[in-house]
Amino acid sequence: MTIKEIFDTMDYGPAPESSKEALQWLADNGGIAGHYINGKWGALRDDFASNNPATGEKLAGVTKGTADEIAEAVAAARKAQPAWAKSGHKRARVLYAIARLMQKHARLLAVMETLDNGKPIRESRDIDVPLAIRHFYHHAGFAQLMKSELPDREALGVCGQIIPWNFPLLMLAWKIAPALAMGNTVVLKPAEYTSLSAMVFADICTQAGVPPGVVNIVTGDGETGAALVNAEVNKIAFTGSTEVGRKIREATAGSGKALSLELGGKSPYIVFEDADIDSAVEGLVDAIWFNQGQVCCAGSRLLVQEGIADRFYAKLKSRMDTLRIGNPLDKCIDVGAIVDPVQLEQITRMVSANTEGDTYQTTAPEGCFYPPTLITGLSAASTLMQEEIFGPVLCATTFRTPSEAVEIANNTRYGLAASVWSENINLALDTAPKLAAGIVWINGTNMMDAAAGFGGVRESGFGREGGWEGLSGYTKPSGTAKPLKKITAFTTEDGTPADPLDRTAKLYIGGKQARPDGGYSNPVFSPKGKLLGHTSIANRKDIRNAVEACNAAKGWSKTTGHLRAQILYYIAENLSARADEFATRINTMTGTKTGADEVETAIRALFTYAAWADKYDGQAHGVPIRGVALAMKEPVGNIGILCDDAQPLAGLISAMAPAIAMGNRVILAASEAFPLGATDFYQILETSDVPAGVVNILTGPHADLASPLASHMDIDAVWSFSSSDLSAEIEKASAANLKRTWVNHGKALNADSHSYLQAATEVKNIWIPYGE
Ligand code: NAI
Ligand code: MG
Repeated sequence: MTIKEIFDTMDYGPAPESSKEALQWLADNGGIAGHYINGKWGALRDDFASNNPATGEKLAGVTKGTADEIAEAVAAARKAQPAWAKSGHKRARVLYAIARLMQKHARLLAVMETLDNGKPIRESRDIDVPLAIRHFYHHAGFAQLMKSELPDREALGVCGQIIPWNFPLLMLAWKIAPALAMGNTVVLKPAEYTSLSAMVFADICTQAGVPPGVVNIVTGDGETGAALVNAEVNKIAFTGSTEVGRKIREATAGSGKALSLELGGKSPYIVFEDADIDSAVEGLVDAIWFNQGQVCCAGSRLLVQEGIADRFYAKLKSRMDTLRIGNPLDKCIDVGAIVDPVQLEQITRMVSANTEGDTYQTTAPEGCFYPPTLITGLSAASTLMQEEIFGPVLCATTFRTPSEAVEIANNTRYGLAASVWSENINLALDTAPKLAAGIVWINGTNMMDAAAGFGGVRESGFGREGGWEGLSGYTKPSGTAKPLKKITAFTTEDGTPADPLDRTAKLYIGGKQARPDGGYSNPVFSPKGKLLGHTSIANRKDIRNAVEACNAAKGWSKTTGHLRAQILYYIAENLSARADEFATRINTMTGTKTGADEVETAIRALFTYAAWADKYDGQAHGVPIRGVALAMKEPVGNIGILCDDAQPLAGLISAMAPAIAMGNRVILAASEAFPLGATDFYQILETSDVPAGVVNILTGPHADLASPLASHMDIDAVWSFSSSDLSAEIEKASAANLKRTWVNHGKALNADSHSYLQAATEVKNIWIPYGE
C-alpha cells in the first residue's frame, strides 16, 4: 500500500502482537495445562484441548481434574490455612509481590489470554490484565488493614472458586485476591475453554513466595467443578451461567458452605433524548461489542427515547460499520473471535430463531467470528429482550417517558447492571435508584474497579466482589457458634381441653388481623398444662396474602431513614408502656422469669435499629476515574423470617427491627413454641403508625412455612433463626428465584447488629463520572 493510498482510505494496516513468547511458555511447560496443588505441578494429562478460537489451532492439552485430585487440593488448602490466616501484613506482602510480578509479566498474560479466549489484544492488554493487577494491589491493602478495620471478623477457611471463560484472568483475580487477603486459602477451577492464563498465574504464585497450599488450581470441566462444589470446602464462589448457579445453590443447600453467585444479566442501556448522542453511541461499543458481548454485565438491551430513536439508530449503524473485526492479536482490532464454536452456534441459533423487528449486521471473517448485530423494533417481552445471548448482539426498543423506561428496564428476571445516558443530572440520578441492578453507570458503561463492589440482584445472583462490601463474602464473625437446642411447645397430658370462648389469635396481614385460610388453630399451653389460648395455623395461601400486602407497602422502602426511626421509637415507647403485661405473658408461656429482661432486650433492639435507620451510610468509593462510585445501601425488598423460638418477643423484634429500619417489608413466622408474644404484639403495631403491610406476622409450624417462603418468587430473602433446622429446605427452595438466604444451620446465631444490617441491605454502586 502506498502512502497516498493510506491517506485516501485512512485504513489501518495490521499491527499484530507476537505470540512467540506465549507459545514458547506453553512448550516449556509441557504443552499441557494441569493442576497446581500444594505449590507443585501435579498430573498433566491431555484429556481435552484448549484451542485458539481465532484459528481453530490447539494451543495446549488440558487435564480434567478428578474428584480425588480436587480432594487432594482441598486437603493442601486446609493444611495451609491456619498459618496463612495469622499475619495480615505477611499476606499483604505476598499479594503485593503477586501484583508486581503480574505487572512484570503483563505482556505474556495479555497474549496468552487473547490466544486462548479470542478477545482483542487491545482489551486484554488495556483492560483485563491491568484490572487484574489492580485487584491484587487493592487487596494487598485489605490484608494489611484486616486486623484493625475488621477486628471481629475471621477467614471462612478453604474457598472453592469456579470461574467462566469470558474474563479468565480477571475473574481469577476477583476470586483469589479477596479470599487470600482475608486469610482464606483457595482451590480454583478455571473454565474448560480458557485454562492457560491461570497456569501463568500459578507460576507467578511460586515466584511471589505464596506458601504451598494457599493457592491451588485444578483444571477441568463441569464435572470437575461439581466435584469441587461437593468437596470439604467452606465456601463456593461461582461466576457463570444462571443455570449452573442454580444447580450449585441446590447442591450446597444445608451444607453450611457459604455461597456467592455472580450470574447472567440482560442489562438495560437507557438513552434519554437529552443524552450526548455521540457519546452514548460510543458507549455502546464498550457495552455490547467489548469482548464480543460475552460479558455478564453487557448493555445488551438498548432502550432509546422515541424522539431520537431514528437518529440514534442511524448513527449507531454507521459506527458499527467502522468496527474492525478479525485477528484478535492485531492491535487495531475492535472485535475478536467468539470463545468456541459451541458458543458461536448458540448465538447463531438464538438470532436466527428470531422473527421480530429489523436485524442489521456488519460482516465477519470466516471461522469462529460473529458480526456485530443490532436488532431494533423488538417488544419488551420478546425472547431476545429477555434471554442472555452472550454475544455481540444488541437488542433495541423505544420508550416514551422516564417511568416507562424504568418499567421496561426492570422487566427482566435479572438485575446485574444498567447504564443511564442523560445530560440532565436530575433525571439520571432520579432514575438510578429505581433500577433493579447492583451497578448503575451514568453516562458510561462497563466501568469496574477493585474498590467498588460488583454483583447483582434477582437472578443475577447475590454477593458482591470488590470494595469493602466484597470482604464480607470472605469472612465470618469470629468465634464458633454453639449448636441450638430444639424448643418444643408445652402440651397437656389429657389432650386438648375445649375452650368455651373462641380466643384464637388471628394472623396479622396487611395491617389487619386475618383469619387463617385453612381455618385451623393450635392450642398453646403453659408448662403446667394450662390452656393459654389458641393460635392460627398459617399456610401457603396466607403467605401469598402476606406477600401481596408487602407489595402494596412498597412505599415504605422509599421513606426516609428519619421517618423509619420515628416509627421504631414509637413501637419501643408503646411496648415500654405495656412492658409488665408482655413480661408476664412471656413468663407464663415459657415458665421462666426472663420476661422482664426479654422485654428490655426488645426495647433496646428497637432503639438500636432506630439509631441505625438514618446512619447505616453508603460510601463514595475512590475509583480511579474522574468521578465517584456511590455505594448506596438499598432495602432488599420482601424478607421472610422464621423467628427465634426461645425468645418469643426479643427474637421477633431483633429480626424485624433491622429489616424494617432499612426499608424492607417483612413476613415474620413467630416463635413456634411460644407464639402468643407475637400475637399480642399486633396491638402495639396497630398503635405505632406502622403502615399496613410493612410487618406481617404468621403463626404455625416453621417446617410448613419454610419452603413456601423460600420458593415464593416475590420474596427477596429468607432468614431463619428457628430452632428447627430448616436450612437445607430453605436454601434448596431459594434456588427458584435465587433469593438471598441467611440461615442458622441449627446453630446459635453468631451475629452482631452489622450482620443484620448487611443482610437487610443491597449495595448499589452508582458510577458518576464527571468533567467535560
Ligand atoms: P457455565 O456456567 O457452564 O460455566 C461456568 C463454569 O462453571 C465453568 O468453569 C464450568 O466448568 C463450571 N461448571 C459447569 N457445570 C458445573 C457444575 N454442574 N458444577 C460446578 N461447576 C460447573 O457456562 P458455559 O457453559 O461456559 O456457558 C453457557 C452460557 O452461560 C453462556 O452462553 C452464557 O450465556 C452464560 N455464561 C454467563 C457468564 C457470566 O459471567 N454471567 C459466564 C459464562 C457463561
Ligand atoms: Mg481456548
